[in-house]
Amino acid sequence: MKKIGILTSGGDCQSLNATMRGVVKGLNHLLGDIDLYGFEDGYRGLVYGKYRKMKPEDFSGILTRGGTILGTSRMPFKEIHIPDQFGVDKVAAMKATYHFLKLDCLVVLGGNGSQKTANLLCEEGLNIVSLPKTIDNDLWGTDMTFGFQSAVDIATSTIDCIHTTASSHNRVFIVELMGHKVGWVTLHAGIAGGADIILIPEIPYNFDHVLDAIWKRADSGKGFTILAVAEGAISQEDALLSKKKYKEKQANSTYATVSYELADRIHEATGQEVRVTIPGHTQRGGVPDPFDRVISTRLGVAAAELIAREEYGRMVVMRGYDVDSIPLSETAGKLKYVSPDDQIIKNAKNLGISFGD
Ligand code: F6P
Repeated sequence: MKKIGILTSGGDCQSLNATMRGVVKGLNHLLGDIDLYGFEDGYRGLVYGKYRKMKPEDFSGILTRGGTILGTSRMPFKEIHIPDQFGVDKVAAMKATYHFLKLDCLVVLGGNGSQKTANLLCEEGLNIVSLPKTIDNDLWGTDMTFGFQSAVDIATSTIDCIHTTASSHNRVFIVELMGHKVGWVTLHAGIAGGADIILIPEIPYNFDHVLDAIWKRADSGKGFTILAVAEGAISQEDALLSKKKYKEKQANSTYATVSYELADRIHEATGQEVRVTIPGHTQRGGVPDPFDRVISTRLGVAAAELIAREEYGRMVVMRGYDVDSIPLSETAGKLKYVSPDDQIIKNAKNLGISFGD
């Protein structure tokens, strides 16, 4: 009987449970009885031997439940080789737990940092199969991550709500969206929500061009303007700074986020009232949408198929509308950015959306 461990790592998203359900149902269907161990709070559970012996039934009835029944935590990859406060060597401890339980495979649901750790464990000789989780959609090698679409839905409905209030006031509205260093959520929600200006990290903005877009709307008789701004959006001047200098600038800033600085600058330059809305972690909350339920289920079953074939060291991925897998070593440490040359950017520009560039 195969012994399988499973964990969810990093920031949560809506369809972690749906994905685990797909893995476990798939394993059960393909292999019959399995020994299952669920690690609590991500890699922490593996380091400190915090696990639960689980049954396939534990993964039933969770298709629509957001969050993760196993709990999750962040264990930054850059600190993975630094012993904890008690001197515990994390990598050695994770290997020890895996070998103590005599696991045949560890299943990891995680984003960028978690995939790096998964790859490291693979290089250390453990059998790993991983799945691409993150609302940011920034994992290299997969066209889509699970969690992304549900986050886009929430971000879009925030912009939708802003639209109705915006049309009653002559104001500039900024909706700041998550995405860490990439602009996928903002780009998709911005288009879906009908934003007039979309600012993403991959396309540094020129403030004067942002103003031009606001004036253009005013000149055409539109009383309000909606900006969808990624939390990592950056101006062209700031993009010229070294990473260190930019971090220092941010640390010394009196503004809580990029949007508040932008709001002040727009107000000073135009005299228009500006409001900022930040949906924040609501973008990771609630139930997974049907699209995510479908891809989570399919990716989960594909992971089970890899385990049944004993093809380890791989991450399952979406290629267009098909499911495939790639070696973990190929994706670990690489981010998938929006490219300014992507067709979706050209489409948006030809619609009249300004990216401030
Ligand atoms: O990676 C997912 C994400 O939600 C990012 O979009 C965001 O920058 C970050 O996590 C927030 O992290 P935390 O939940 O640790 O505040």
